[in-house]
Amino acid sequence: MKIGIDSIGFQTAGYVFQLSELAKQYGIDPAKYEHGLMQKQMSVASPDEDVVTLGYGAAKQALYDCDDVESIKLLIFATETGVDQSKSAGMHLHRFLKLNPNCRVFELKQACYASSAALQLSVSMIRSDPKLKALIIASDIAKYGSGTPGEPTQGCGSVAMIVSANPKIMEIEPYSGVWSADENDFWRPCYSEVAFVDGKHSVQLYLSHLGNAWGNYKRQSGLSFADIDQVCYHTPFSKMAIKAHNELTRLNEVECNEKVNSTLHYTPYIGNCYTAALYVCLLSMLGNSGVDVSGKRVGMFAYGSGSVGEFFSGIVQNGYKQRIEPLSGSIQEALTSRKIIGFDKFREFYNFWNDYRGADVLTPAYSKNKLRLKGITEHKRVYELKDA
Ligand code: COA
Repeated sequence: MKIGIDSIGFQTAGYVFQLSELAKQYGIDPAKYEHGLMQKQMSVASPDEDVVTLGYGAAKQALYDCDDVESIKLLIFATETGVDQSKSAGMHLHRFLKLNPNCRVFELKQACYASSAALQLSVSMIRSDPKLKALIIASDIAKYGSGTPGEPTQGCGSVAMIVSANPKIMEIEPYSGVWSADENDFWRPCYSEVAFVDGKHSVQLYLSHLGNAWGNYKRQSGLSFADIDQVCYHTPFSKMAIKAHNELTRLNEVECNEKVNSTLHYTPYIGNCYTAALYVCLLSMLGNSGVDVSGKRVGMFAYGSGSVGEFFSGIVQNGYKQRIEPLSGSIQEALTSRKIIGFDKFREFYNFWNDYRGADVLTPAYSKNKLRLKGITEHKRVYELKDA
C-alpha cells in the first residue's frame, strides 16, 4: 500500500523586509547576505500573525478539494514557536477548520525536525489503519537576537500536508536513516523570545548528521546516490542547502549540482521557516523543476538542532502537477503581494509583544489573511476569522 502526501498548502506572512536594508543598518556588505548566505528577503509576521494564523492559510490550501474533512482523524501541529506551553496551537485550528471531534490533536517539537517526525508518525498510523487521514501543519516564525549572525536568516511560513493512503503527490518510502545526539547548537529556553545559537557549530553538526543519516539510509534501503533524482534539504538559509549538497556529493564521490537547484526558488525570498523549511524546498522542486518529475525519487534530509537528522525518500506520483501547478501560482502571488517594510517597522513588529507580556491587548489590524490574532483577553488568545 502506498502512503504519503496527498495534498499540500503554503502560507507566509503579509510583510517582507529586504536584507539589503539590514546590511545598510549594520554597515555590512550586502553581498554577504545575497551571496554569502544566498538570501535576499525575509517574510515578517505582523503582531496579528502567528503560527496559528499562518497554519490556517496553509491548511485551507491543503484542504481545498477535500470533500471529506470528517475523515481527518489526526492533526499534528509541528512548531518550535508554540503560542502556549500547554495547549496545542492545533486546538485553535481544530475549531476554525471544523475538524471532527474524533480527531486526535497534539503539538510536536524537536526544533526544525518535528514536521518530519509528524510525517513518519502519520505514515505508520495509516499503515495500521488505511482509512485514517492525517493533517500535518508545520508552522514557524524564526526570530534571533538583534544584531546576531542569525538575524539575516529570519523568516516565517507554514506548510500543511494531508497524509493518506494512495497519495496524489508523493509516496513516502518505508526506509529512512536517523542520527540523533544530545547537543547545544541552537536552543530556546522557555523564558526567551529568541533562540540562542552556536551558529558555526550548528552548521558542522548539520553536515555530520547528514553524513551519518545518509549512511544509515543507504544501509536500510540498499540504494545509492545514483538512485536519488532530486534532493531537498532542511534549508534555514539557501547556502546551507548548497553546503549540504556539496557534502553529500563529496561523500559519494560524484559531482552533481542539478539535483538541488530547483529546491531553492522560494527560500531566498522567505527566509527560515524552521520546521516548514524542508517542505518549502519540496514545494519549490515540485513546481520549478522544468521537467515532469513523476516517478522520480526525492531524497529528503530533515535536521533539527539539539539534534536529530533524518534522511528519507519519496516517489513523486503521476498527476502531481495537477495539484502543484495552481499552488505554485498562489505561492508566487503570496510572495509578490507582501508589503515591503522599512527598518523602523521591522523593529516595531519585532518588539511589539515585549510591551504586552501578560496584559490584555487588542492587536492593530495589519494582516490581510483570513484568520488574524485579534488580541489577548484574560491570558486567552482571541482569533478573528474574516467572513465567518
Ligand atoms: N561577500 C560575499 N560573501 C561573504 C562576504 C561578502 N562581503 N562576507 C562574508 N561572506 C560569506 C562567508 O565567506 C561565508 O560563506 P561560506 O559559509 O560559504 O564560507 C558566509 O558569507 C557567512 O559568513 P560567516 O562570517 O562565515 O558567518 P556568519 O557570522 O554570517 O554566520 C551562520 C553564518 C549560518 C552561522 C549564522 O547565520 C547563524 O548563526 N544562523 C543561524 C543558525 C543556522 O541557521 N544554522 C544552520 C544549521 S541549522
